[in-house]
Amino acid sequence: MSEFKKLVFSGVQPTGNLHLGNYLGAIRKFVALQDGNDCVYCVVDMHALTAQLVHDDLRGQIRSIAAAFIASGIDPVRNIVFNQSAVPQHAELAWIFNCVARIGWMNRMTQFKDKAGKDREQASLGLYAYPSLMAADILVYRGTHVPVGDDQKQHLELARDIAMKFNLDYAEHIRKAGVGIDITVGDEPVHAYFPMVEPLIDGPAPRVMSLRDGSKKMSKSDPSDLSRINLMDDADAISKKIRKAKTDPDGLPSEIDGLKGRPEADNLVGIYAALADKSKIDVLAEFGGQQFSVFKPALVDLAVNTLSPITGEMRRLMEDTTHIDAILRDGGERARARAEVTMNEVRDIVGFLR
Ligand code: AMP
Ligand code: TRP
Repeated sequence: MSEFKKLVFSGVQPTGNLHLGNYLGAIRKFVALQDGNDCVYCVVDMHALTAQLVHDDLRGQIRSIAAAFIASGIDPVRNIVFNQSAVPQHAELAWIFNCVARIGWMNRMTQFKDKAGKDREQASLGLYAYPSLMAADILVYRGTHVPVGDDQKQHLELARDIAMKFNLDYAEHIRKAGVGIDITVGDEPVHAYFPMVEPLIDGPAPRVMSLRDGSKKMSKSDPSDLSRINLMDDADAISKKIRKAKTDPDGLPSEIDGLKGRPEADNLVGIYAALADKSKIDVLAEFGGQQFSVFKPALVDLAVNTLSPITGEMRRLMEDTTHIDAILRDGGERARARAEVTMNEVRDIVGFLR
């Protein structure tokens, strides 16, 4: 038995402003993972067309996500940072995956159901096939580990299902091409071409909730700007939003159990813990028994101190886009070279003539 080489892959859509949920659920983890791992981080511009077909400034949005990556501390030399459309192999593999994935699997995707709304007949085919392109994003590098927020869990399970079905359906061809690896999935030995991707979701803030309603996740699309902290917010905006954040009348508990049934308190403690790189238990050990009137100003300080250097650097990077564009161009070239190695093998496995 052998193992696939560890490769970390993740993507962020260039739609709307990045917020604290994106930062804590995804980007901060990307930064931590770059030490000692081979990492590929992608601005998924092709996915952005599923949210909105015509954009006023898609190029600007792509650059701003790349700027957020760099400003947060991702090193574009050690890692690969690029935009998805620069590597057409993603779309090519996605087509093959569209033929592997079953309609029944796609019909279960909760994000599709949410985004399509009531009139599903009017949703685009792209929105429906979104998770298949996402699987291709990862697997075109034979990616093994994917840091994401909790909302992406179901899509990653689908990526595993697609990889597994491809491996089983093409088992003989994979053997003939001599490109597979013997792995075990559960207790089953499988001769695999694609790895079973592992989600990296854990942490104190896998799902950052709205500051106005602890039952809704913090989202780019929430009509209330008070519901989220944007990465581009200045110190005054951050302070105002945290001061106005919904809470209950009780103080902070000393034990984790005391957060049960208190989603707003739980959310603020989780945000503090993630920003401070501590566990929620540690945060409660420090603030247990205190009122929100004490906790909130501490959270404001922590959030401003953590985010303002990133915001400043993002602004600086966005002033002259030549640097960002050069990073994306270089990343695109390196990503393409790797993706092409996989696709040549996939073309052989599937039986395309080349
Ligand atoms: P998106 O903006 O939808 O492309 O999301 C980019 C990344 O941020 C994904 O890994 C999401 O899972 C993550 N993310 C988005 N919203 C949240 C949230 N409220 N809490 C934690 N992670 C989030
Ligand atoms: N679907 C992800 C989101 O909305 C973005 C994404 C696209 C992604 N391709 C990916 C995340 C591959 C991880 C890996 O957040």
